[in-house]
Amino acid sequence: MVDLILNKPPVSRLRRLRRHQTIRSLISEHQLHVTDLVLPLFIRAGKNIKNPILSMPGHFQLSLDQLDNELAEIQRLKIPAVILFGIPAYKDETGSSALFSEGIIPEAVRKIKQCLPDLMVISDLCFCEYTSHGHCGVLHENGDVDNDRTLYLLTQQALIHAAAGVDVIAPSGMMDGMVNAIRTGLDHAGYHQVTLLSYAVKYASAFYGPFREAAEGAPKFGDRKTYQMDPANAQQALREAKLDVDEGADMLMVKPAQNYLDIIYRIKNNFPGVPLGAYQVSGEFAMIKAAAEKGWLDEEKVMFETLLGIKRAGADFIITYFAKQAAELL
Ligand code: PBG
Repeated sequence: MVDLILNKPPVSRLRRLRRHQTIRSLISEHQLHVTDLVLPLFIRAGKNIKNPILSMPGHFQLSLDQLDNELAEIQRLKIPAVILFGIPAYKDETGSSALFSEGIIPEAVRKIKQCLPDLMVISDLCFCEYTSHGHCGVLHENGDVDNDRTLYLLTQQALIHAAAGVDVIAPSGMMDGMVNAIRTGLDHAGYHQVTLLSYAVKYASAFYGPFREAAEGAPKFGDRKTYQMDPANAQQALREAKLDVDEGADMLMVKPAQNYLDIIYRIKNNFPGVPLGAYQVSGEFAMIKAAAEKGWLDEEKVMFETLLGIKRAGADFIITYFAKQAAELL
């Protein structure tokens, strides 16, 4: 009888570690903190504007005068950082409204830094919201994006953001050599403290759909496949990351997050000392919201499961449209 019992396989080796929430918390390998979250904001030129973004419930295009409530909320929730996207008053072929020192992003940076000096302000650096054709740079006659002329313009845009007092610049246009061009320009002008968060690994993804409504930056012809990465490639992500680190990126980003957890994992393992962000993009957010609205998913549980999954994969911080909702509950 005793022999029989002893020969039985152990039945609850792992389950006894899961019996109560207290022990589950005590031994959990990963936690999500408010300090991991970055909130995207869409700032629109004009006055008195609070346009709801239909595919992203709870998010708005805000004019600067409407920002006060949002900033108060961010402070109350102790969200440590925001990333800014600008919707300018007008667009043209070269995206010239991105190059004014009184443009929408520099004005927003000044206002936010004045109200909340400790809030880390990240500016997305790209041209797709400013060009009439919606591509991420200026075009050659044949419609292809002119990489090197765009590098020059990106550097000008970066200097304007830096002069306004931005903490971190996040170039998202996937131009070759962008980190080197921007770092050189910033250093030359004495902005050594401005940090570069490179969207090093950004895939040509259909999950950006709702964002293009929010930022009004959808390409008017073609797509972004000649500059953003092919979702079929993983090894190439390491090449992108290495180039950006060599060019002077302080931090790296993988985008989107949910379908690219393997990429987050690889980048973290290959560049363990480089801070890594992941962008849970608009389509990832919209899918969860839509399913929850139908009653098909538990929104809060799915939100936390996705955010924790992204951290577990290796992200140090997460840019997410859930930042306020998650911060409220953490
Ligand atoms: C601009 C930019 C995009 C996003 C962030 N920066 C759009 C794009 O590349 O098409 C997408 C973010 C999101 O979907 O939430 N280049």
